[in-house]
Amino acid sequence: MLRAIQDKILQYKKEKDVCILAHTYQSHDILEIADFTGDSFALSRKAATVLQKTVLMCGVRFMAETVKLLSPEKRVLLSAPDAGCPMAEQFTREQIMAYRAEHPDTTVVAYINTTASLKRVCDVCVTSASALKIVSQLNGRILFIPDCNLGAYVRDMLPEKDITLLTGGCPVHAAVTEEEVLQAKAAHPGALLLVHPECRPCVTRHADYIGSTSGIMEFAGQSDASSFIIGTENSIVEHLQYAYPGKRFFPLSKRLICRDMRLTTLPEVLACLEGQAGEEIELDELTMQEASLCIRRMIEMG
Ligand code: 13P
Ligand code: SF4
Repeated sequence: MLRAIQDKILQYKKEKDVCILAHTYQSHDILEIADFTGDSFALSRKAATVLQKTVLMCGVRFMAETVKLLSPEKRVLLSAPDAGCPMAEQFTREQIMAYRAEHPDTTVVAYINTTASLKRVCDVCVTSASALKIVSQLNGRILFIPDCNLGAYVRDMLPEKDITLLTGGCPVHAAVTEEEVLQAKAAHPGALLLVHPECRPCVTRHADYIGSTSGIMEFAGQSDASSFIIGTENSIVEHLQYAYPGKRFFPLSKRLICRDMRLTTLPEVLACLEGQAGEEIELDELTMQEASLCIRRMIEMG
C-alpha cells in the first residue's frame, strides 16, 4: 500500500517537475521519496539551488517559507499546512522592534526556526549547525532569539561574545529532564549520549556530543562506539538504526516527538501533488525583501 503511494509520488514529481525536500525528522517512508533530505542548514542551502520550478516541503511552515524567500520565482508547497513550529511564533516583530529601539547597537540573531514575518526585523539567521560559526564572526552586543537553550550553548562555547537571551525554545527538546538523562545512562551503560543543543543545559552538560540532527547522525556513523542514547526527535533513532544495523540506538526520552513534524504523511504528499491538499506559500513583497536578507547573510557567513 505505502509502496504504491510512493510509486505514484515518484511518477508525479517527475511528470510535474517537482523537487521534494524533507527534513530529517520526517518518517523513513517520506525520506525515501525526497530528492534531498537534511537538517535545517542543508535544506536552506539546497533550496537556493534546486532547478525544478516547484518545490514541495515535507517539514514545517518556516522551512517552506525559507525556500520561498530564497527562490521567489518558484512555486513552494507545504504538504501539511497545519505543521508549524511552536518555537517559531514565540516572539512578535513588535517585541523585537521594541528591544531594538531600547538597544540600538544590537545585532539580532534569529534561529532559522522563526516566522518570515519575524525575520524581517533580524540581522542574520543561524541554524543549529551554523550558529557557532556565524556568531563567532559577529562583534558587539548580540540578541539571540528565540531559543535560549541553543543560545546558552553558543554563549558557553563563545564566552568572549556579549550575548543576551530571551526566554524561548523548542517545547519538545526543552521538556527533557536531567532525571531522564540519568535513567537512560543507567539503563544503557557505556552508550554515548548525543544531544541536540535545543535541549536544556542540565541535559547537554551530560552529553558526549552536542550538535544538529545531521551532526548527530554523522557522529554516530563515524564513532567506534557501538551504542548511543539519542537526545533529539525520535525519528532520528529510527533513521540511525536503519543506517547502522550493527550499532544500537536508544531514545533519551519517549517524549521526544514533534507532533508538527509528524503531520506530513505519504497520502497527503500525494494529494498535494494532485492539487487536492497542501498550501502554496505566498509572502508579500516587503516580507520577501526584508526577511530574505538575514537568510542570505547566513548562507554567506555559514
Ligand atoms: P536542525 O538540527 O535541522 O536544525 O533541526 C532542529 C529542529 O528542531 C528543526 O525544527
Ligand atoms: Fe519546532 Fe521543536 Fe518541532 Fe523542531 S522539534 S519543529 S524546533 S517544535
